[in-house]
Amino acid sequence: MPTFSAARLHAALLLAGVCLGASAAAPATLPDTLEQRVAACLACHSVKERGDAFFPRIAGKPAGYLYNQLRNFRDGRRHYPMMTYMVDHLPDAYLREIADYFAAQHPPYPPPQAGSGASATTESLARGEALVKQGDAARHIPACVACHGAALTGVEPAIPGLVGLPSDYINAQFGAWKNQTRRAAAPDCMADIAARLSAADVAAVSGWLSKQPPDAAARPGAASSIALPLPMACGSVPAQ
Ligand code: HEC
Ligand code: HEC
Repeated sequence: MPTFSAARLHAALLLAGVCLGASAAAPATLPDTLEQRVAACLACHSVKERGDAFFPRIAGKPAGYLYNQLRNFRDGRRHYPMMTYMVDHLPDAYLREIADYFAAQHPPYPPPQAGSGASATTESLARGEALVKQGDAARHIPACVACHGAALTGVEPAIPGLVGLPSDYINAQFGAWKNQTRRAAAPDCMADIAARLSAADVAAVSGWLSKQPPDAAARPGAASSIALPLPMACGSVPAQ
């Protein structure tokens, strides 16, 4: 868990207060804008603070994906106490607004974290790249690019980009799919893929992915940018 500065905690409490309808208690000098309301999120999700290995970048991910995740935390399909606290009791319409706000933000990507994937061997990086670009047909693992897009920047409206994520965060997500503490609408394609990847394969893909320098102009691709149907059905992706 991160250590909280007083400012972060204050921001978090302020957001919670505003969200629960106590906006009258907020200092009159603060404008009641969405920017002000999401300030608490930036304590953990700002680009500058992503030196912390477990905080995923959310800026610029497809709005449908972000919205699904906010509902997943609220409704118990994903588990992280601080996130649940942030979105507990918030109505869908408000989560949609927050998702749209972050989806429209495109701060530049910082270079890959120095330590990320540092311990990966050459063999492991080659295996990771092969899984990402070609998959492993013998084990029914489709290429990651088939769904996440050739540039791995995600696909509208509900598939996230994989660039700019720290390796520890990616490893944690695969662990959560394997032990079923992260779930999406059925059929849960990522849970099925996670079940087919060995621990060494997970380390290989996370190591390789976290070393890729993101293109500053990276944006999610249009739904038409990948071949359909998807190589496996994903319940969180609307039928085309
Ligand atoms: C105390 C730190 C903290 C705060 C504050 C916080 N988050 Fe998070 N958030 C996290 C962590 C850590 C994760 C990853 C949890 C996991 O491993 O699944 C996460 C995950 C997410 C995800 C899923 C990201 C993905 O790529 O799947 C979204 C969306 C998100 N947060 C949005 C928000 C929003 C919106 C707010 C403000 C209302 C917020 N967060 C406030 C720590 C925080
Ligand atoms: C059949 C399509 C499909 C394939 C193939 C696929 N993914 Fe995914 N992936 C998805 C979808 C859909 C989601 C969003 C799931 C959700 O809503 O929780 C996702 C989410 C993710 C996330 C979560 C990102 C975040 O910000 O939390 C990671 C990490 C990920 N995939 C990695 C991979 C890797 C690595 C591969 C290749 C080994 C892969 N995926 C192959 C469809 C796919």
